[in-house]
Amino acid sequence: LKHYHFKNEPDTDFVLPANRAWAEAIRDKWKNIGSSGGFDAHIVVAGETLQREGAKTVIDKSQYHDKKIVGSYAQATAEDMKLAIATAKADPDGWRELSLTRRQEILMNVAHALSCARGDLIGIAAAEVGKVFTETDVEVSEAIDFLNFYPYSVSKIEALNGIETIAKGVGLVISPWNFPIAIPAGGIAASLAAGNTVILKPATDSILCAYMMCQCFWQAGVSKNTLQFIPSNGSDVGEFMIPSKDINFTIFTGGEKTAYDIINTRPDIALSAETGGKNATIVTALADREQALKNVLVSAFHNSGQKCSASSLLVLEKEVYEDASFKQALKEAVESLQTGSVWNFENRIGTLSNLPSGDLEKALSYLDEGEEWLVKPSLADRENPYMLTPSVRWGTKENDFCHMNELFGPVLSVMYADNLEHAIEIVNETGYGLTSGIETLDKREQELWKEKIIAGNLYINRGTTGAIVTRQPFGGMRKSAIGSGKKAGGFNYVSQFMHISCKDIHI
Ligand code: SER
Repeated sequence: LKHYHFKNEPDTDFVLPANRAWAEAIRDKWKNIGSSGGFDAHIVVAGETLQREGAKTVIDKSQYHDKKIVGSYAQATAEDMKLAIATAKADPDGWRELSLTRRQEILMNVAHALSCARGDLIGIAAAEVGKVFTETDVEVSEAIDFLNFYPYSVSKIEALNGIETIAKGVGLVISPWNFPIAIPAGGIAASLAAGNTVILKPATDSILCAYMMCQCFWQAGVSKNTLQFIPSNGSDVGEFMIPSKDINFTIFTGGEKTAYDIINTRPDIALSAETGGKNATIVTALADREQALKNVLVSAFHNSGQKCSASSLLVLEKEVYEDASFKQALKEAVESLQTGSVWNFENRIGTLSNLPSGDLEKALSYLDEGEEWLVKPSLADRENPYMLTPSVRWGTKENDFCHMNELFGPVLSVMYADNLEHAIEIVNETGYGLTSGIETLDKREQELWKEKIIAGNLYINRGTTGAIVTRQPFGGMRKSAIGSGKKAGGFNYVSQFMHISCKDIHI
């Protein structure tokens, strides 16, 4: 560990012919996975993989009409959950007793297994949650980074004079569907690196992705007692797992309300919660407007805007707002984003992972006074409700619905600001504080913005999504971070999951 140097894992360059051919092979395998038996996820509890009757079928959203089956999963019972917790507490395979060096060796093997499974992970995410290949590819790189980085960050803490780290015990990871691989892998990696046993409860919409990711852990030497897998709906977990006194910390990514429910149920334990964002990009008169447009497309619409880090507000300084050619270029650029089946590589935007509901449904069907659709929402395939095209609302005003509410979909709201100070006020009014972007070439504007904007991750002349482990530790403030507020991919993230005892200080 002493001589270990962490390096970020590179993404795949899909422009290279060999990688293009590899992508085609992934497509050939996963587009029709149902005809070769499908991919099934199982409950994994107390060292055993349980085969259960009554499995639920998963349908490929890109092939919604044909009802193409991807695979199936079973749901854990309350008894499974209780057994999982008892097993995690007992730690029969002695994960807590392993040295940090041994834990690191095993977690690096997991990183290698993830790298070997990259193609299949891309395939299952395309089929199950409608992610385009390039988006899952960066997730796999991030997952590998977490596996390599967290043991290293534990070693950095231990390297301090007299410091000893002691695992807290049992971690519960409750992961989301929009990053179905990197986020659960990161939570598990951090828990295990700190010496804990861990139970994963993945989002219902991405159980197959999470199971395939966990297979990499099991193949690489993490036992099925050390990492257990509990596919289930939220209410059972709320009833049987979250209140358990044998869970010592929870890592949660999802809605604010659930995060508060977890805190209220277990105020006595660490909660690392990454919740929503109402993120914005400001474009000032001193921006490179073409570059700004490119970055805004990525920030607002990649993964159909279904990222907590996505920018769903574009705040334009007066001169840019009134620049008719900028408005026209934004319209044309958004209209050029081809939406449709993830199996067609021409498409930049895949399918939604779940049908519009709540705030997104409202934003699609209603305009506030003075707003207009610069680009109207529609379905790329009229018969497929998951194929929603990107849309732009122009003229959103302060306190309008889309100014204040996270939509979690491909809808961008454009707002007017008199000047940079006004733009910053508009952004800070949302009450969230996850990511924020500015497009300006002026150093003084950049400095002013950095000083005044309230957000965990600030990006200058760059998109607001896709934080890189160690370079951009990820996590917000205010309504975007409930609980500990430590940043994923940062050096002190693991410290939430262990006791740190200082036994011997020599002055
Ligand atoms: N870390 C992701 C990003 O930066 C979000 O979870 O986009």
